[in-house]
Amino acid sequence: MKPIRIVGASVLAALGAWLLLAVFRPPPPPAPPRAFTSSRECESCHQTVFAEWQTSWHAQAWIDPEVRTLSNDFANTDCIDCHAPRPVFETGVGKRVLPRETRRAEGVDCIACHLLPDDRIAGTIDAPAAACRPVATRDLANVELCAPCHNQHNTVDQWRASKYATPGPGYQDCLACHMPYRGGDPSKGRDHTMHGGHDMELVRRAVVLRATRVDGKATVEVENVGAGHNYPTDERSRASDLFWRPKGEETWRHLYRFRNPYRFEVDLPNTELASGATLKQTIDDPAAAGDIEVALFYKLSPYWKDPPHPDPEHEAFLVHRAELAP
Ligand code: HEC
Ligand code: HEC
Ligand code: HEC
Ligand code: HEC
Ligand code: HEC
Repeated sequence: MKPIRIVGASVLAALGAWLLLAVFRPPPPPAPPRAFTSSRECESCHQTVFAEWQTSWHAQAWIDPEVRTLSNDFANTDCIDCHAPRPVFETGVGKRVLPRETRRAEGVDCIACHLLPDDRIAGTIDAPAAACRPVATRDLANVELCAPCHNQHNTVDQWRASKYATPGPGYQDCLACHMPYRGGDPSKGRDHTMHGGHDMELVRRAVVLRATRVDGKATVEVENVGAGHNYPTDERSRASDLFWRPKGEETWRHLYRFRNPYRFEVDLPNTELASGATLKQTIDDPAAAGDIEVALFYKLSPYWKDPPHPDPEHEAFLVHRAELAP
């Protein structure tokens, strides 16, 4: 009978172990984060952000006709890096991004800015229960997140040299101006539309235009009061032109151009207006002695044609206009 008793004991032990397991079941090992591969996958849960991003120029980076023309439909493969990038966190903030092989039409997508190397999502909070497993990542709000793509023409360095980079009450980083809180409320998250040169309201806030008489001479001033970097910045195809004309005359007369020329335009200096700086020009022309009009225009394209198109309003937006009496 001995063996039977032994079997009985081991049955009991197995039953006990099973009961223990059933009651005190150890937590399952954490499932590997879901590997997101497309911005489309974020849409269903983050509709507001997705809708904003879709109208942003980040979402147009690959399909933008200006870019396609200039890159010869991306036959120039150097252009793919930032216009269809792999995640910034893959190479690291501040470092050059790598070109993506897939879904290039999504341009600078959610994944480019948010995907961490371990497939989790860089966010402002830890939410391990959420499907995308966001982790609070300080570097997401770092200006170095923008630098891999936006410091090619020194926009980030220009910001560093500006008063906005000084810690204190006047501190304003890229996000403060380009990704403001929705409705000014930090609990509502940040606007992903990321306005830039395509938004004339933003461009108007960058500078003020003043016309005065100094010793009878017409004097025009443009001050960069609202951009945390040069005006205009980044894209070399941008230009802002200052014109004047005697009142009642049709033809504008060119006074100054703010622009960072392409490298091949070796004869042209960089005439962008640094943050906080003022350009002062005196109109040395007897025709400026009477009533005159002064205007500042902004061009997205075709931009780099020098000298400027004789009609300043050609493909240009009026930024500011001023009048000056004799
Ligand atoms: C290092 C990153 C980077 C690379 C490489 C790059 N770009 Fe860009 N590109 C940008 C950024 C950032 C902007 C937005 C800047 C701005 O709007 O001022 C931009 C904007 C543009 C625009 C303006 C789009 C518009 O709607 O006005 C054109 C055109 C353009 N790029 C063409 C090119 C071409 C052509 C190449 C290859 C020769 C290229 N880019 C390579 C980062 C890059
Ligand atoms: C199935 C739904 C779902 C999908 C898909 C999803 N998320 Fe989330 N996400 C959530 C939830 C829920 C939270 C937590 C929100 C909270 O607690 O405020 C969250 C939080 C976040 C956060 C942090 C929010 C913060 O305030 O800092 C980020 C960033 C984020 N998601 C980005 C993404 C991106 C990018 C994708 C696509 C690659 C994505 N999510 C896909 C549901 C989802
Ligand atoms: C150019 C970079 C960039 C792109 C592209 C981008 N984000 Fe963000 N996202 C950020 C930054 C920066 C923050 C704010 C970080 C902070 O406030 O500390 C942010 C914040 C968020 C948050 C937190 C809540 C909120 O609304 O601010 C969510 C959720 C989010 N992003 C989802 C997405 C999704 C989904 C996409 C694509 C549709 C996307 N992001 C595209 C950079 C980006
Ligand atoms: C991975 C590359 C990349 C990163 C990172 C990135 N951008 Fe961009 N950004 C671009 C490109 C490329 C464009 C131009 C797309 C086009 O017009 O074709 C652009 C366009 C913009 C524009 C719009 C300019 C216009 O033409 O109106 C703004 C503003 C901007 N980015 C701000 C930011 C800020 C702020 C950050 C950091 C939070 C950031 N970007 C991060 C690549 C990037
Ligand atoms: C104090 C507000 C402010 C800060 C800070 C700021 N910007 Fe801007 N940004 C502007 C204004 C205003 C414009 C429009 C005038 C211009 O192009 O200079 C602009 C334009 C831009 C453009 C569009 C240029 C184009 O050709 O369309 C890009 C890209 C940009 N900023 C990137 C950045 C980045 C990256 C940072 C952080 C390093 C930053 N900005 C910090 C106010 C700001």
